[in-house]
Amino acid sequence: LRKAGITGVGSYAPDNIVTNHDLEDMVDTSDEWIQSRTGIKERRVADESTATSDIAYQAAKKALNDAGIDAEELDLILVATITPDMPFPSTACILQDKLGAEDAAAFDLGAGCSGFVYGLSVATQFVQADTYDNILVIGAETLSKILDWEDRDTCVLFGDGAGAAIVQPVETGGVLSNVLGADGSGGELLRLPAGGSRQPACLDTVENNLHYIEMSGNAVFKFAVRIMGKAALKALKKADLEREDVDFFVPHQANTRIISAAAKRLKLNDDQIIINLDKYGNTSAASIPIALAEAVEAGEINKGDNIVLVGFGAGLTWAASVIEW
Ligand code: ACO
Repeated sequence: LRKAGITGVGSYAPDNIVTNHDLEDMVDTSDEWIQSRTGIKERRVADESTATSDIAYQAAKKALNDAGIDAEELDLILVATITPDMPFPSTACILQDKLGAEDAAAFDLGAGCSGFVYGLSVATQFVQADTYDNILVIGAETLSKILDWEDRDTCVLFGDGAGAAIVQPVETGGVLSNVLGADGSGGELLRLPAGGSRQPACLDTVENNLHYIEMSGNAVFKFAVRIMGKAALKALKKADLEREDVDFFVPHQANTRIISAAAKRLKLNDDQIIINLDKYGNTSAASIPIALAEAVEAGEINKGDNIVLVGFGAGLTWAASVIEW
């Protein structure tokens, strides 16, 4: 089998910063509560005219540049998102047009916050099978558009952004293992109830606030703590590696308490954990690739490092990948 690796990364977030203090003016909350319960200090919020494909485009350009390839060379564009521009056409097709990636197939992938790692796994298979050489995988979200800004349980947690990776054949290292999982019985814990075929958009769904994220925070918290360590250990085993072999851990950026619990299970030191949720909040499918891109750009991750990506989210879903950088 050919080896597949990440050969370029890029990220983007809208300029507009909303701090916890800004939120204190909008809902009954406090900077102290948000920081102590989640680790979040601020998040980015897109303006009215900006959609997911717009921010995906910015991250994609950077990743293409980093990998040194042109959009015309892309064979496949995969956008992981729960906030597509619209139900159809797919955000990946909209992005394909914006990039001028004429030769690329394109589709969206819905796996909640695990979406990017799911996408990386799909891209890996296409490269290993010799089907494609140049794949763009993006996690991109404008979660601000599906938040009830009067609901303190959810609006303080999320933010907007995009992270992109170019996946290509590599000679050494690359993606060593992928683990994907799902538990649909937990779907009700985290969802956007209306706007699909079950409850099409109508006056009632709007009046009843059914077009916003609905979440049982506590249950999701417990699921996340349980699954992150488990998925990471399974991926390490598949890659024939031990916990001691891990150089960096790039977890889904939802909550520092969840990340700490997982890191403890993996016996990692603080300096091995990539965290940027203080700046962006939870950007769902975008969180892992943004964290990865920033760590690479900052020179933290270097050639030969073993890194573990782990996501969990709506579905419920989870996914882990081990990569030799
Ligand atoms: N400000 C102030 N108080 C608040 C706020 C707020 N923003 N939100 C909730 N509270 C209150 C609650 O009402 C509750 O009050 P009560 O005790 O009087 O009822 C109290 O704070 C404690 O609430 P808990 O829910 O017990 O707080 P917890 O410690 O569990 O933290 C949190 C809540 C941060 C949501 C946590 O459960 C969590 O992070 N869950 C995981 C969420 C997550 O990761 N979701 C994303 C998954 S990814 C995807 O696919 C989108």
